[in-house]
Amino acid sequence: MNNKDPLSLIPSEMEPAGAYRLFQSLVAPRPIAWVSSIDSRGKVNLAPFSFFNAVATRPLIVMLAIGQKGTGPKDTLRNLQETGEFVINIVSEELAEAMNITSGDWPPETNEFEVLQLTSLPSIDVKPPRVADAPAAMEAKVRQIVPVEGTSSTLVLGEVIRFHVQEGILRPNGLVDPLLSKPIARLGDNEYATIGRVFTMNRPKF
Ligand SMILES: Cc1cc2nc3c(=O)[nH]c(=O)nc-3n(C[C@H](O)[C@H](O)[C@H](O)COP(=O)(O)O)c2cc1C
Repeated sequence: MNNKDPLSLIPSEMEPAGAYRLFQSLVAPRPIAWVSSIDSRGKVNLAPFSFFNAVATRPLIVMLAIGQKGTGPKDTLRNLQETGEFVINIVSEELAEAMNITSGDWPPETNEFEVLQLTSLPSIDVKPPRVADAPAAMEAKVRQIVPVEGTSSTLVLGEVIRFHVQEGILRPNGLVDPLLSKPIARLGDNEYATIGRVFTMNRPKF
């Protein structure tokens, strides 16, 4: 062990819940995809996922990693398997509490939009609706569903096919202003972060 290491731990020797807590506080801050989806009968679902990121740019591909609920699939995964369409709603500070409530273990027949009295708007290219008050949303279609070997997680890869961006937050340089969209990020367990200081750095030119 490098004696400058204040603490050196081996995940497989740790209690799994403890290893997971440490892991999620280190792989942080994580963006949050607030995912709307529907089942084959058109029942709407809304739930947050922070094992979420961008994985390819042409076309635009995102990933979600979805764990299990007990021994079965979460409603979102089942819906994505059944209908292959979803919307990633961006969670602003104002929407944080509502997002958190949608992570509750609501039964499959519950429409979280109705429980929370969240206004929905129809999407254009996919069937699941979007969260009207989200600063931005991305309509997406499932490309691949990959079970992660030796785990109870499933990786979902989806292509972003349409953006919705609220009036006034997109700057002329093509970037959303994070001080206006105010996305929250997930840290460890129940900890979250807001955008602090935003600074720029030019990439080296070699
Ligand atoms: C901020 C946040 C992020 C979450 N990220 C994930 C995630 O990446 N993967 C996952 O399986 N569950 C995640 N969860 C838990 C799910 O939201 C929760 O299991 C939810 O009930 C799933 O809903 P569903 O069964 O309607 O799909 C997260 C919860 C919160 C509050």
